[in-house]
Amino acid sequence: MRLLVVLLVFFAVVAKADPHSFSNSDIVSHPHLQLDLTADFDKKQLSGFVELDLEWHLPEARELVLDSRDLTVQRVMGRTAEGQWQALSHQFGKKQADHGQALIIGCPEQYNKVRVYYHTSPNASGLQWLSAEQTSEKTQPFMFSQSQSIHARSWIPLQDTPERRLTFSARIHTPKTLLAVMGADNSANLERDGDYQFEMPQPIPAYLIALAVGDLHFKAMSERTGVYAERAWLDKAVAEFGDTEQMMQVAGRMYGDYAWGRYDILVLPASFPFGGMENPRLSFITPTVIAGDKSLVSLIAHELAHSWSGNLVTNASWHELWLNEGFTNYVENRIMAAVYGEERALLERQLAVQELQAELPDLAPADTRLVTDYSGRDPDEAFTQVPYVKGMLLLQFLEQRFGREKFDAFLKHYFANFAFQSMTTERFLRYLRQTLLQDPDTVSFGEVLEWLNQPGLASTFVAPQSDAFVQVDRQASQWQQSDDLSKLQTTDWSIHQWLHFINQLSASVRPEQLAALDQAFGLSQSQNAEIASAWFAQAISRNYQSALPHIKTFLLQVGRRKFVVPLYQQLAAMPGGQAMALQIYQQAKAGYHPLTQVAVERVLKL
Ligand code: BES
Ligand code: ZN
Repeated sequence: MRLLVVLLVFFAVVAKADPHSFSNSDIVSHPHLQLDLTADFDKKQLSGFVELDLEWHLPEARELVLDSRDLTVQRVMGRTAEGQWQALSHQFGKKQADHGQALIIGCPEQYNKVRVYYHTSPNASGLQWLSAEQTSEKTQPFMFSQSQSIHARSWIPLQDTPERRLTFSARIHTPKTLLAVMGADNSANLERDGDYQFEMPQPIPAYLIALAVGDLHFKAMSERTGVYAERAWLDKAVAEFGDTEQMMQVAGRMYGDYAWGRYDILVLPASFPFGGMENPRLSFITPTVIAGDKSLVSLIAHELAHSWSGNLVTNASWHELWLNEGFTNYVENRIMAAVYGEERALLERQLAVQELQAELPDLAPADTRLVTDYSGRDPDEAFTQVPYVKGMLLLQFLEQRFGREKFDAFLKHYFANFAFQSMTTERFLRYLRQTLLQDPDTVSFGEVLEWLNQPGLASTFVAPQSDAFVQVDRQASQWQQSDDLSKLQTTDWSIHQWLHFINQLSASVRPEQLAALDQAFGLSQSQNAEIASAWFAQAISRNYQSALPHIKTFLLQVGRRKFVVPLYQQLAAMPGGQAMALQIYQQAKAGYHPLTQVAVERVLKL
């Protein structure tokens, strides 16, 4: 019996490596697609068609199964080998929470092309439609996509699995005053005429397909880097992100030539639900990292790093997000060290470890393993510090043991060997054993497995330690004991030291002491979003009431999930706080992205 269960589980896993896709991509796949979509801002919908080029892998197959979510399909056509288009039947499978539903297309013969005419829902989980008032300039509307993890299916019916890759071409129709951009070659669109064409010649997974439409302007930073933004952000963003070219150069030197041609940055409205999204050739970036002093540009290093880890070598399923995000955090930190020095990189590593350690107690032990199981769950829930920071720490462990030179060579070869392919942890392990682990005296296989399979941090973890933080800790305790603010010599503190100071405030700090800090340093009004959100978290947990109006203002302006979700959670946990959290949310909700709404409603139990 036991054996039977094990076998059944084994076959289920083998048969369906990606449980978050309904598609039958092992039987028929679409290596290329063509989009023709119109953005209608009144209806908040994209409408038009997708044409899929099909490759059939089984002679008797007569069905094409796509992923979809809240799509309305008008008709489906198939093109025969002789070039004739025929109407096809289609039906939807059962709706599954957070997954959407299968779109099953009957194919009496194995068509080489299938066209689906459809339109999206105004509530599409992967799109946000902003009215003119919700933008910085307040004169034109804005829309953008966010396809990772499984939201591409809410705006394109396709095989929405990172196991497969595709190239695409697209034509996007918009109001004439707006510009459309995609994570693709944008070069055909010099004239603003409401008719835009794109080409993506490198094969990418579906979650990297991206579109934005707005009153966008462009400014070059170098030959191959530039910024798209609303006017209000354009110059500030160009100044903030001016080191992007240098980041590309150091990354290219360490990990192999940049494979995607251009690297541009799109600055989104503050409702963008993430810090950044590594859409190929065009990272989507929150304006909350434009701090004025480059203190938060590790986010650009991060999204750029995905050009190797993630976009070239791609996690095969969302269980293995660490293969994207852990590798990327590691590469990000190396880029930061090369451009801004080892000291800053060390501080950022230490802050990352602190964030991981703060989150670990809130997670189910099984979710603190690098190889996790998100079947049946919303794969966006895998977005914790575990794949990011624990994944990075595993690679840092290997780097420390083998030395930088060997480890750099290993990674460079890894990216070259598996470029444009999907990766599993098993495959990574096999490669590791064939390469670095050939020398078993430096690192044992068991030590690597401990990192992958055991909950929490591995016994070989070495905590990063920086003097700059030790100094902050010393001053902090002197201040706390004496109530004498002159003990805090903050003039030379970096943003990182401030973050450390705020996050590590001792449990015994009293609300009056917070008030004194706030008065001296204006923390509630900080224009640095990381400082503000760290400070607000402390203010709520220590019942420092004067911060509340500032927290409200922040929650009404910013929709980045990482900031707003914990704040709502904390507010709701305060005595009498649930009503206040609800009241703020009612006011803020219309400006939030659908994904932010889902996440806030989860913590407010709505
Ligand atoms: N690819 C992620 C964003 C993502 C992850 C979207 C999982 C959906 C599901 C992106 O590269 C990212 O990691 N963003 C971080 C940036 C940070 C770690 C520098 C973010 O948004 O906070
Ligand atoms: Zn990332």
